[in-house]
Amino acid sequence: MDILIDQALGRPSDDPIFSINARARARRASGGQVVNASLGALLDDQGTLAVMPTVVEALRAVPADRAAAYAPIAGDAPFLQAVIDDVFGDSALADMAVSAATPGGTGALLNAMMNFIEPGQAMYTSSYYWSPYRIIAGHNLRSVDTFPMFTKEGAFDVAAFEAGLVAQLERQGRALVILNFPCHNPTGYTLDETEWHAVAAVLARASNLGPVALLVDLAYAYFGSQDRHLWVRAVEPIAQQVTILAAWTASKSFAQYGARVGALVAAVPDPEKRQQVANAMSFSCRGSWSNCNHLGILAITSIMEDEKLRARVDSERRTLVDLMIRRVEAFNRAASGFGLDYPRYEGGFFVSVFTPDSAVTAEVAEEKGVYVVPMAGAVRVALCAVPESDVEHLVAAVAEGVEAARVKADLIAGEARA
Ligand SMILES: Cc1ncc(COP(=O)(O)O)c(C=O)c1O
Repeated sequence: MDILIDQALGRPSDDPIFSINARARARRASGGQVVNASLGALLDDQGTLAVMPTVVEALRAVPADRAAAYAPIAGDAPFLQAVIDDVFGDSALADMAVSAATPGGTGALLNAMMNFIEPGQAMYTSSYYWSPYRIIAGHNLRSVDTFPMFTKEGAFDVAAFEAGLVAQLERQGRALVILNFPCHNPTGYTLDETEWHAVAAVLARASNLGPVALLVDLAYAYFGSQDRHLWVRAVEPIAQQVTILAAWTASKSFAQYGARVGALVAAVPDPEKRQQVANAMSFSCRGSWSNCNHLGILAITSIMEDEKLRARVDSERRTLVDLMIRRVEAFNRAASGFGLDYPRYEGGFFVSVFTPDSAVTAEVAEEKGVYVVPMAGAVRVALCAVPESDVEHLVAAVAEGVEAARVKADLIAGEARA
C-alpha cells in the first residue's frame, strides 16, 4: 500500500503557469529575447515588480512586538471594519456585514467553499475561470460547475448563467456562485451595469429554488475603469434573498502579493444568522490557517484608517493603474489591427485571445520568444508583466499562433470531410 492516500497520488509537482514562467526566465537568462506574459504580477516597464512605497513604509512602521503577536483568529476588529467599508462603500450592505481575515483572496475563496456548499457539492462559475478554483474546491472535497461564459457575439451569456444555475439548484439544493469581476482572470471581461442588473435578477429568481450565495472575487477590483461599487448597487436590492459575499485581497490593490492579507466579507440581513455566519467563518480560519499574517494586517489597516496615508496609496496606485491602462490601450490597438478575437477588454492584469488550438498558438508564440498560457479555447496573456513597448510584438506573435492553429484546424476538418 502506498504511503500517500489515493487522492494525493499523482499530483502535479508545480502549477503549469509557474512552469511556463520558469521556461521564459531560463531563456532570458541565457540571453534570449523574451516577452514573458505568463505570470500575474504587475511589473513596471523595466521588468521590476511594481510596489507602492507608502505600503512598504507602513510595513516597516508596525511595532515589532505587535507584529510578532498572534492576530485574533478572525482578524483584528479595525481591519475587519476597514475591509467592509472598502467593499461596500456607503451601501446599506455595510451595516449588515461581517468579515474574517484570510490569507489573500485564496483564503476567502476556501472559507466560502467550506461554509456555503456541502462536501460533494459544486460551486458555480463561468467556463473561463482562475484554475485554482478547481484546486481549492477539489482539495476540500468540493468541485466546480460552469456555464458557457460568452454568447456567439462575445457578450456575457446571462441566459446560460441562469439555465446552469437553475439546473444546479435542482440537483444540489443550494448554490455558491463565484464571479470574478471587474477584470476577470483570465479573460479580462468586466460586467457592465446592465449585465450586473441582469445577473442580480437571475440570482433573485434562482433563490426561490434554494439558498443562493453570490461571492464576488474582487482580486482586481482597483484595476477596472468603472466605479468600484457599481456591482454593489446592482446587488443591494437582492440582499434579502441572496447572501452577498466578497473575496477581498491586498495582493494586487496594495501590490503586496507576499503579505497574504485578505478577507471574506458577508452581508447577512438577519442579526442572528449574521452571527452564525461570522462564527462559521472564524471556525474555518481556525481549522485551516489558524490566524493570518499580523504584520500585513496591521500595516494595511494603518493605511486604510489614515486619510493621509490612504490618499498617498491611492495616488501611488493610480500610477500603476495608468501603467496598466496604457498597455491595455496598446493591446486593443494592435489586436484590432491583427483582427484578433478576444472579449471586451477595458482594464486589468489579463486578457484572453480565442483560438481553435491553444497549444499550437502558445507553441508558435513561444518560438517568437512570447510566453502565454494555453487553456481550453484561448491563450491567456498576462499584460501586467509586459512593457508597453513589447505589446505590439506580443500581439503579432499571438496572431501568428492563432493563424497556425486555424490552418491546423482547417486541415483536420478537411481530412474529416474526405
Ligand atoms: C481571480 C483571482 N482570484 C483570487 C486570487 C487570489 O490571490 P491572493 O490569494 O493573492 O489574494 C487571484 C490571484 O491571482 C486571482 O487571479
